[in-house]
Amino acid sequence: MQISIEKGMAPAKGFDLLVYPIIRKFPLAKIADRSIAAFAEHEGFEGASGEWLCVPILNGDKSTKVAFLGMGEKRGIEEDSYRRLGGQLAKRIRESKAKNAAVSWEVIASLGVSGREAMRAFVEGLRLGGYVFHSYHPDHQEKHRKNAAKSVRIFVDNTILATAMQRGLEEAEALVSGVHLTRDLVNTPSMDMAPQHMADAADEVARMSKRIKIKHLDKARMEKLGMGAVLSVAQGSLHEPRGVHLIYTPTKKAKRSIAIVGKAVTFDSGGLSIKPADGMMTMKMDMAGGAAVLGLFRALANIDVDVEVHGIFLAVENMPSGSAYRPGDVVKAMDGTTIEILNTDAEGRVTLADALAYAKTFEPDAIIDLATLTGACIAALGEEIAGAMGNDRKLVDKLIGYGKQTGEPLWELPMFPSYEDHVKSKIAHLKNTGARGQAGAIAGAMFLKRFVGDIPWVHLDIAGPAYAEREVRPDTPQGGTGFGVRLLMRYLQGL
Ligand code: BES
Ligand code: MG
Ligand code: ZN
Repeated sequence: MQISIEKGMAPAKGFDLLVYPIIRKFPLAKIADRSIAAFAEHEGFEGASGEWLCVPILNGDKSTKVAFLGMGEKRGIEEDSYRRLGGQLAKRIRESKAKNAAVSWEVIASLGVSGREAMRAFVEGLRLGGYVFHSYHPDHQEKHRKNAAKSVRIFVDNTILATAMQRGLEEAEALVSGVHLTRDLVNTPSMDMAPQHMADAADEVARMSKRIKIKHLDKARMEKLGMGAVLSVAQGSLHEPRGVHLIYTPTKKAKRSIAIVGKAVTFDSGGLSIKPADGMMTMKMDMAGGAAVLGLFRALANIDVDVEVHGIFLAVENMPSGSAYRPGDVVKAMDGTTIEILNTDAEGRVTLADALAYAKTFEPDAIIDLATLTGACIAALGEEIAGAMGNDRKLVDKLIGYGKQTGEPLWELPMFPSYEDHVKSKIAHLKNTGARGQAGAIAGAMFLKRFVGDIPWVHLDIAGPAYAEREVRPDTPQGGTGFGVRLLMRYLQGL
C-alpha cells in the first residue's frame, strides 16, 4: 500500500473511498459536497471520536464512497489522537475493501497543528492498524494480498504544511518498519524463534546500515566473560544461548552513548518451577524486550540520531530437563554477584543480571532495559501500561512524557528503599524471588538495580503491553505489539 501526500483539494474522481476526518460539530458543508454534507448532518453525524458515516455515491458510471470519520472534541486532540485516527481508518479501509482511498487533510490543517507530528502519528496508526501476521496461513496471506488497498493519497492545500507532512510520513515509514519487525519476531512461534534465530535477525538488521555494527556473544564467549547467571538459565535447553551487541554510531560525533537492553527468553516454560498450561500459552512472547531492541535498530537504519546506541540482549530458552538449573542453586553473574535461585520461573532477571553487567562495562550515559519480567506488573497496571522503575528521577519522568506522546503509556512504581530487602538472600548477594504475594514488579526492579551501579537507569516491565491477547487499540491488533520501539526512538531523538 502506497501512502502519499498530494498538494491540492481532494479530487472528485480517482478514488473509491474519500474520507474526511472531522472534529466535533464541524460544519460539513464547508468542505464536502453540499448534498452529502446535508445527508450526513441529517443522519446525525457529530464527529465523536471514532464515529463513521459512509455515503455511497454514483460517480459517473462508477460507485464510490464518501465518508466522515470523527476525531472528537478539538481541545481533546493530542498527538496520539492521530495515531488512533490512522488505526481506525485502516480498519475502515479494510472493511470497505477500498483499493484507492483518499483523505482530505483540510479540517486537520485548520487546527494549526504540526504537520510533521500529526502526519507521523497518523501514518503510524494507518500502518500499524493494517498489520497482520499470517506467515503460517498461506491462504489468508494470499487473500489479504488480493484485498489490500493499493494507495492512500492524502490531500492538503498548503505547500508549507505538505513539506512538513512529507517528513512526518517518511519518519513514520521508518519507525513502522521497526515496529513491524518486532511484532513479527514476537509472533513467530518459539520453534522458529530460538536464540540462534534472534542472532540471525540481528545480523540482518546490522546489514541494513553501515552505521550499525554487530558483535555476537556465543556460549564460549559468555563463559569467558563469566556470565554464570544467563548460562544457568540456558543450561536446561537444547538450544545454546546467543548474545547480541549492536552498536549504532552517528554520522556526527556522538554527544552521548545509551545502552538499550532487552529480555530475550525465546520460550519461558518456567523451567523446573514449571508454569501451568494456561500460563505457558503465550510464552513465545517472552523475548519481546530483545525484539524491541531489534525493531529500534531496524528503525535506526533509516533515522539519524546524534547519540551512540548500544543494543544488547542475551537470548536463551528456559526449559526443564535433566540439565536444567534448579531451585536452590547459587549462580554467579559476570560482575561477581551471587544469586540464589529460588524459582526457575523468575529467569528474566537472572539473564538480565549478565546483560546489564555487560552493558555497564561500556560506561554508557544511561541504560534502559525492556523486559516482560513479571505477571505482578500485569496485575498492577493491566495490559496497556508498562511499569517504569529506575534510579534516576529525570530519566523516569522523561520516558513517561515520551510514552504519552508515542501512545506507549508508562506508569511509575516506587523503588521504596526498604523493599530492597525483598531480594536479599541468606546465603548469596541476591535471591531471584521477592516477598510472597507482594510488590512483585518492584522486587524484579530491585534485583536488577544492583547490576547497573551508579549509571542512570530505567527498567520498563512490559509484560502487559508487549503482547495483546485481543485488539486493545485500533492500531494494535492481537499478538505482539512492538511496544517500546517508538518510545525509545523518541527518547534517542530528544538527546
Ligand atoms: N515471563 C514471565 C512474566 C510474564 C508473565 C510475562 C505473564 C508475560 C505474561 C516471567 O519470567 C515470570 O515467570 N515471572 C514470574 C516471577 C515470579 C516467579 C517471581 C511471575 O511473574 O510469576
Ligand atoms: Mg518465567
Ligand atoms: Zn519470563
